[in-house]
Amino acid sequence: MALEIKWFDTIDSTNSEAFRQIESAKDFTTYAAIFQTSGRGQKGNRWESAVGKNLTFSILIRPVLLKATDQFLVSQIVALGILKYLRGFGIEAKIKWPNDIYVGNRKICGILIEHYFSGANLSVSILGIGLNLNQREFASDAPNPTSLTLETGEEYLPEIELKGIIYSIKEYYDRLNVKAYKSFKEATEQSYIKSMYKFGEIASYQETGSEEVFEGKITGIDKNACLVIEKSDGTKKSYAFKEIRYLLNH
Ligand code: BTN
Repeated sequence: MALEIKWFDTIDSTNSEAFRQIESAKDFTTYAAIFQTSGRGQKGNRWESAVGKNLTFSILIRPVLLKATDQFLVSQIVALGILKYLRGFGIEAKIKWPNDIYVGNRKICGILIEHYFSGANLSVSILGIGLNLNQREFASDAPNPTSLTLETGEEYLPEIELKGIIYSIKEYYDRLNVKAYKSFKEATEQSYIKSMYKFGEIASYQETGSEEVFEGKITGIDKNACLVIEKSDGTKKSYAFKEIRYLLNH
């Protein structure tokens, strides 16, 4: 099936554009921009990207068979699809929970997924992805960025790479068929955990609102998709996204 990709020279945000087309867009339509004037990141941050250097795009999918409670499966599929795409360049990336993509200690890709529901099920998910492609220098407040170019020394054509990354996500997503749903979900969760940044390693964390830095290791994610960290005294605690911060330079 041919991919439907709509390119924009300049747009506010591809996630916002996908939302404007939510009624009529076909499953897997992609909205891509050379430049976003109001690119959005997680936690209400802005997503900055040099004009024409990187990939900034959103895929609109209709995962209507998924329960609202399974929405984290969508994040896992997207992150694992991107990891597979990067592996094609010899890059072994990791997923910094919930869905940043890291190479070593540097962020190469950010993901902002926005879900819409119909009753107890998902109706639409907008998969907003910013992948650093050809950018070599970043604004000083960007947290530890890297790009495909910085990792491999090559330059890339955005139109070609966009198709590659969409196919990789789609290939993963298409395996989501109802009959094998339970085993697919379990296998996806295992792959996700195996690919987690800092999994099983002692690292430094800080709870939101606390000055205290503590050491612990990630042991997995719980049934609510919260991050589980085991402290050095053996106690385990689950954290929602806004409750915990990784300290990268400790
Ligand atoms: C993050 O904070 O790491 C998530 C960044 C997500 C950025 C992408 S770029 C394409 C899409 N449109 C947006 O406005 N945001 C996402």
